[in-house]
Amino acid sequence: MVAATFAEISINNSMNRKRLSVIGIIIAAIATFSNCTKMIPDMINPANGLCGAVNLSRAQSVLFAKGNDRFFAIRTAATGLGPYFVSTGCGECHSSDNRGHLFTILTRFGQPDTNGNRFMAMGGPQLQNANLPGLMPQRIPPGATSTRLIAPITAGVGFLEAVPDSEILAFAAANATDPNGVRGHPNYNTIPAYATPLAGAIPRSDGKYICRFGRKASTYNLAQQCANAYNHDMGITSTLAPNNPYNYLDQTAPAIAPTPEVSEDDFNAVVFYVQCLQTPVQRNAVNATVTQGNQVFLNIGCETCHKQTVTTGYSSIAALAYQTINPFTDLLVHDMGAADDDHYTEGTALTSEWRTTPLWGLGLAPQVQGGKVYLMHDGRAHSIKEAIQMHGGEAAVSASKFNALTPVDQNALISFLQSL
Ligand code: HEC
Ligand code: HEC
Repeated sequence: MVAATFAEISINNSMNRKRLSVIGIIIAAIATFSNCTKMIPDMINPANGLCGAVNLSRAQSVLFAKGNDRFFAIRTAATGLGPYFVSTGCGECHSSDNRGHLFTILTRFGQPDTNGNRFMAMGGPQLQNANLPGLMPQRIPPGATSTRLIAPITAGVGFLEAVPDSEILAFAAANATDPNGVRGHPNYNTIPAYATPLAGAIPRSDGKYICRFGRKASTYNLAQQCANAYNHDMGITSTLAPNNPYNYLDQTAPAIAPTPEVSEDDFNAVVFYVQCLQTPVQRNAVNATVTQGNQVFLNIGCETCHKQTVTTGYSSIAALAYQTINPFTDLLVHDMGAADDDHYTEGTALTSEWRTTPLWGLGLAPQVQGGKVYLMHDGRAHSIKEAIQMHGGEAAVSASKFNALTPVDQNALISFLQSL
């Protein structure tokens, strides 16, 4: 399965990607012959158990199944891939609907201030590092700063979409008096003309809305997220995003596809699929070490940002409405300090600001990340402990409290996080 995926890529892509695919095949071969832990994850790992649906009606289940199929489908040039793209399917980056892998990391470029991205006319905001044969590879324009992002977990995102703005604002308001200096804020951004405001949306007086998806929480809803994913990640046009990504160094590739390369039916099915993904379920919740770790998590201020209990509001999908969930995020962006600054802004998120990463599904990540973990926005943390110790800025007090814990408490905390 792994080798087949990469062989497929090598037929369709550029030199860069061919090199990657050759490396992929070698690694897959080594993994196969030495019978060691697989380094490149399969797109679906049944043991990960994250691709299931919330309670749905029969008709909704049919739509979910269709979206599931399209999410894990591999696209080729014949089915709209490219001309410029990063990967060939949603499931390649969002393996088993959990966290992504360094092999499918993506690169964005822009400028380090909040004046917008002046490189949009030069193919911004995303570098498509693969292309169909015969085209010039894209390059980051001179003067642009760039950042690298690995895919966040997709399980449970429908519930995050149903969290009302009022709750996100209440989390931000509570931060104002936090004794440890936590000062999160929502990322207010302009929303696309096609976006219908979410239920209970509270726009700011300048017409900007609270956005919540993506590493810097700059994307409004799951329809926008999916339109951007098809477009920027796979070079596939849709009714919502009708222009292909292009290369400012090579204007010969067709910018506008004559008809959307993903049909509205397929697109809507994929949006519905991600909306209806079940939340990860905690394992070993009654284990004494795990409950001790949960208490430590509360004691040292992790929960100020990684909110354990969140309630959804109205949703047109009944299973998502008015539910209590444990996502371990406040959907706010926080300044994480100079060492976590990527010199890239989106919306009102500054270069060192990141959305609190939901921690659900964390303990299942090794299964989809090849036996290891790649945590934080660019996967630079190779263990949960490293991720915690990379917390600076608003999270510095909490991280130093972690460092001051006894080894027993540190391990209990990590056991708790691994149960999520
Ligand atoms: C090349 C890898 C890649 C591909 C292909 C890809 N994604 Fe993503 N996805 C990402 C990354 C990276 C992010 C974070 C983006 C950001 O920070 O703005 C993301 C974010 C998301 C999110 C938001 C999660 C959250 O909590 O904020 C959803 C939902 C999502 N993708 C769905 C999809 C769907 C549906 C497809 C296929 C149509 C897809 N993705 C294709 C890498 C990928
Ligand atoms: C000020 C808010 C804040 C506090 C306090 C905080 N975090 Fe985080 N945490 C974040 C943000 C923001 C990120 C994402 C940073 C990035 O992607 O670069 C993150 C990322 C993580 C990750 C990586 C998750 C992944 O999937 O990549 C882990 C694990 C984590 N935090 C655990 C903790 C623990 C444990 C504590 C308490 C010691 C803690 N955090 C305290 C805001 C916070």
